[in-house]
Amino acid sequence: MANVTIDKARKAYGPVEVLHGVSVDIRDGEFVVLVGPSGCGRSTLLRMIAGLENITRRKIGIGGRVVNDLPPKQRDISMVFQNYALYPHMTVAENMAFSLTLAGAPKAGCGRR
Ligand SMILES: Nc1ncnc2c1ncn2[C@@H]1O[C@H](COP(=O)(O)OP(=O)(O)OP(=O)(O)O)[C@@H](O)[C@H]1O
Ligand SMILES: [Mg+2]
Repeated sequence: MANVTIDKARKAYGPVEVLHGVSVDIRDGEFVVLVGPSGCGRSTLLRMIAGLENITRRKIGIGGRVVNDLPPKQRDISMVFQNYALYPHMTVAENMAFSLTLAGAPKAGCGRR
């Protein structure tokens, strides 16, 4: 794992601003839950961390490195969607381990990670 630092991150779709400066420090190994009403921007923030959305202003850091301009593949993180892109016959751990295996991680370590 790694520290994730979100520094006053802003996101706008055209003239519509949906994230108005979010700051969160997540320490290595910490478990974090984003809670809020529908449409408050949770998925947008997760997509910005993963690199699937660009960051309109300020910055996001992973492991001490600013990742604003880093493509998803180079961020060395993964995400599991809530209700699609999952293999229903596998457990959560197996779903996560599967993509790690495809990425070349040793099979023995995937279960632990
Ligand atoms: N591609 C987009 N273009 C324009 N507006 C968008 C886009 N994606 C999201 N939005 C808007 O940004 C806001 C935040 O959306 P987001 O999907 O992050 O919300 P959420 O907190 O994940 O809510 P939920 O999962 O309940 O829908 C919403 O008002 C949404 O309509
Ligand atoms: Mg969502």
